[in-house]
Amino acid sequence: MTQSAYPSLRMRRTRTHGWSRAMVRETTLSPADLIWPLFVTDGVGVEEPIAALPGVSRWSVDLIAERAGEAMALGIPCLALFPNTQAGRRSEDGAEALNPDNLMCRATRAIRDMCGDGIGVLTDVALDPYTSHGQDGLIDQAGYVLNDATVDALVQQSLNQAAAGADIIAPSDMMDGRIGAIRAALEQAGHANVQIMSYAAKYASAFYGPFRDAVGSRGLLKGDKQTYQMDPANSEEALREVALDLAEGADSVMVKPGLPYLDIVAKVKQRFAVPVFAYQVSGEYAMIEAAVAVGAGERDALVLETLMAFKRAGCSGVLTYHAAHAARLLG
Ligand code: PBG
Repeated sequence: MTQSAYPSLRMRRTRTHGWSRAMVRETTLSPADLIWPLFVTDGVGVEEPIAALPGVSRWSVDLIAERAGEAMALGIPCLALFPNTQAGRRSEDGAEALNPDNLMCRATRAIRDMCGDGIGVLTDVALDPYTSHGQDGLIDQAGYVLNDATVDALVQQSLNQAAAGADIIAPSDMMDGRIGAIRAALEQAGHANVQIMSYAAKYASAFYGPFRDAVGSRGLLKGDKQTYQMDPANSEEALREVALDLAEGADSVMVKPGLPYLDIVAKVKQRFAVPVFAYQVSGEYAMIEAAVAVGAGERDALVLETLMAFKRAGCSGVLTYHAAHAARLLG
């Protein structure tokens, strides 16, 4: 064997064989780390592929229940639901969010019927899938999103979802004070065990485009969401957002988008030592698929490497459109 000139610096020593790499590996990835976002649409037996998200579809309620069964078999612990509300059911005030028979509530009940308590159902709280203007909240005449009036609507939306059987309420709207208001209302309504995963550090990002197509709000949205979502330039502000949401009763917090914001994940984890989740959002998924389509990368490797990076940064889990695919690879 050749002698190394740097005997004490042989970082490569433990990398020589697979068994050794496995032995010193610091981070692991399993299907239990994944949350699978699913888009719900009307009808029966309907699968609608989403052009901007190749490989992702909207499913009717009956097929969402099938996806839930599939997820459970794959060891995925939780689903995240988003509705594609028909244009006719959208309104200025997003009242469909409060309909106990809306797509989200029907899908939640169908999953419960299919899977019992075998899988968690996380429901998104925000008005954008229901408003005719595509904003997450109620707006004034100038189009400005109003905080407190919106919080009142979000509380009602959360109670509606909890009554349908949601396990985790996930407010993605970024209004101030909504976590405390929702927590208090859940307690009062007898839903003490319903969790809240707060989208605490959600940035006004250019990576959400395909999602807005998926829920049908892209064409409707006028302007942007910068008056309530965070400035990508800020990280101290993310810590203040997280501190407030935890103080108000969030059980876990989310950082969103994912990969471009891993510094935020790491800081939040170090500072607060609470369960932190990240959302690998639609634009990130689309970027991976676009790379695969032009031969710039290999899907399985890109998916597993990105998901491992979330874990390494400190995430308890990741919301990803690649969840089922990744769970199959890991299974
Ligand atoms: C809105 C919401 C968005 C996403 C989840 N909830 C988009 C937005 O803020 O406009 C994005 C998720 C994704 O891009 O995959 N309440």
